[in-house]
Amino acid sequence: MDSSAENQGNSYRTDTAVDIKAISGGNAIGWMTSGEWLEYTINVERAGTYDVTIRAGAISLGRSLSISQCNSTLLANFEVPKINEWGQFKTWSAGKITLQPGRQKIRITVTGGDDMDIDWIHIGPYTGTIDPPNPAILGATPPMGWNSWNTFGCSISETLIKQTADAMVSNGMKDAGYQYVNMDDCWMNGRDANGKLQWDNTTFPSGIPALAQYVHGKGLKLGIYQSANQWTCVGVYGSAADKTKRVGSLGHEAQDATTFAEWGIDYLKYDLCAGQRASIIKMGQAIRAQTRPILYSINPGNGQNDLDPPKQNWDMAGVANVWRIGFDINASWSSVMRLLDENSKLYSYAGPGGFNDPDMLEVGKLANINEDRSHFALWALMAAPLIAGNDIRNMSANTKAILTNSEIIAVNQDVLGIQGRVVATPGQDLQVWSKTLSGNNKRAVVLFNRSNNTASITVKWSDLGLPAGAATVRDLWSHTDLGRFSDSYTATNIPAHGSGMVIISSAN
Ligand code: GLA
Repeated sequence: MDSSAENQGNSYRTDTAVDIKAISGGNAIGWMTSGEWLEYTINVERAGTYDVTIRAGAISLGRSLSISQCNSTLLANFEVPKINEWGQFKTWSAGKITLQPGRQKIRITVTGGDDMDIDWIHIGPYTGTIDPPNPAILGATPPMGWNSWNTFGCSISETLIKQTADAMVSNGMKDAGYQYVNMDDCWMNGRDANGKLQWDNTTFPSGIPALAQYVHGKGLKLGIYQSANQWTCVGVYGSAADKTKRVGSLGHEAQDATTFAEWGIDYLKYDLCAGQRASIIKMGQAIRAQTRPILYSINPGNGQNDLDPPKQNWDMAGVANVWRIGFDINASWSSVMRLLDENSKLYSYAGPGGFNDPDMLEVGKLANINEDRSHFALWALMAAPLIAGNDIRNMSANTKAILTNSEIIAVNQDVLGIQGRVVATPGQDLQVWSKTLSGNNKRAVVLFNRSNNTASITVKWSDLGLPAGAATVRDLWSHTDLGRFSDSYTATNIPAHGSGMVIISSAN
């Protein structure tokens, strides 16, 4: 039955809306777990398409609920947004469903994951307030920018950083959403008598505050690097000279966080480098204590797979905005595949304000355009930080087109912050990856050919949790609508290591 407050006593409302909510406080549907369902009888005045508004929340992502008719025809599947604490519901416009007139039963089923709190569901035009799609939290969507390490290693300077900022503006990356220009290791040169970090005067003669001003003047943000050890990684593994210059933040966390804020830093990459995990937590607290918002990106591991579930019981999202999940990437297909596979298991940990980081991009540096495209498409789909690692001052037209593909970036930046995952393996080395997007019955899909031969890959709506029947397919590489397809779509001639990327939207 419809148990809305306005509808006690089983009399149906005469307007075109239905509220399913608690009669007296509490949650209409609370703490439901996967597979549980509730049925409601609603009276639909006219056939039509109705807005569905939901107030709900779940502590983890990957939670979803569906609305179906009593004959089990799926009307829609909705991903439930992540909240930080129970009781913090979010109200969002979840999409639309099409209903036939008359009295009928609908069933609300928890389809994905345990433990979600549903406060109410409203079917019909909604006149109340919808929460903004994302709270104004730092790193609500994955950060986008550039980092010096993959191409330049220790050879960085203020000239390189300035030229990179200039390039980010002139090559269209800024307009596409990239904003962080990040210096990695080797900007520092020891500490002064008061323990204050010093920049390297030979390579950064104007100083970091002046550099921050320059980057801010371009409408961009500046990132810096430090480590949870006595030295940075270059210091730890380098020569005696490196040890003098490349000092870490261990024991200086609060002082260094204050220094970074004072210099105008917007992003800190904090690397374990065989140091102390307690320092990562300390630095996080020190960063948050600054009035300046500084995005906190950590590398809490030293090797491979060291962040596999249960993630050593770390509350990653409570510590940082972005956390590395594996050992350093390099410009090889095997390295990209290793990180992809490690990250694919961790999708439930990602959400607005806290994302898995399978490391910086090697786009423009892999063996060919098919590999570059797949790498970018999959990182975007996994809601990974999009931090370019190539020399963006000098890149080919192809590399630029990949990095600035606005439709793929929009998938990465979708407000729900869901990390896409493998939903089907239709053949050996053939994978279907899916990311639920905001809106009704909308999925970004990567049809990924990991094999060494050209292949066709079929995605079935049932793999995506979409209702059977017609859906539209849009190609995100060619920027074209491919048309309406029923129950499945097949991409043909996908080259070795290549992929197709589409958005599939169920019609209603
Ligand atoms: C570690 C990190 C890299 C880079 C280097 C710098 O290896 O994983 O991303 O920051 O340190 O020394």
